[in-house]
Amino acid sequence: MSKVTVVGAGNVGATVANVLAHKDFLKEVVLLDIMGDVARGKALDSWQQAPIDYYSTSLVGTENYADTANSDVVVITAGLPRKPGMTRDDLISTNAKIVTAVTKSILEHSKSPIIIVVSNPLDVMTYAAQKVSGLSHTKVFGMAGILDTARYRAFLASALDVSPKDIQAILMGGHGDTMVPLPRYTTVSGIPVTEMIYPAQLDAIVERTKSGGGELVKLMGTSAWYALVLPPRKWSKPLSRTKKGSFHVV
Ligand code: LAC
Repeated sequence: MSKVTVVGAGNVGATVANVLAHKDFLKEVVLLDIMGDVARGKALDSWQQAPIDYYSTSLVGTENYADTANSDVVVITAGLPRKPGMTRDDLISTNAKIVTAVTKSILEHSKSPIIIVVSNPLDVMTYAAQKVSGLSHTKVFGMAGILDTARYRAFLASALDVSPKDIQAILMGGHGDTMVPLPRYTTVSGIPVTEMIYPAQLDAIVERTKSGGGELVKLMGTSAWYALVLPPRKWSKPLSRTKKGSFHVV
């Protein structure tokens, strides 16, 4: 893999591009936005961080789909984020048009990329991208399960005063009201979480996880972005160009 395109240079897109560049295993990251200058500015800012943080991945900001040609992976973050009081489903008609148009334009220049959809409502947008692209369902992913699981683990870590690293958890269902955190399959270093916390407290954490995105929208007036993009595990060590990294967005 050598080229990743990120569509949308908002909080999520710009953070994905920046984190990917830090991983230093790609030749090029393209950040595309209808506001080309914003994409160019954020790509340039990230590139100017390279001498300090020791990476060589080049960053290109653009509004032109021709620059995305032959991408191995495309991350679609384009679309409107939620505002306070909105559900993810309120974005469906606006974002379906955007995700459909973006997917078509991407496919004009990259034959068979892996597509990772981040735009909301996530499950529907991922389905739309897969349908429009005609790509196999094995090539089109939605980013959400890892985010919802991370929120669940973070809340448990705070409640139990342990490291989130020691919490193993699984969460299923959609990215919204239908998500299902599974306490029966949640452990703290192998100890069932149900033995470590009162049921009422666990229920409250499950409910807080389900509305975890909304909690952040209320606080910030827009959707979250940091936890969507997991940084490299060994963030403190500069990664060499030859070292293989893994892509933690999905
Ligand atoms: C969230 C948005 C990205 O859950 O859906 O924060």
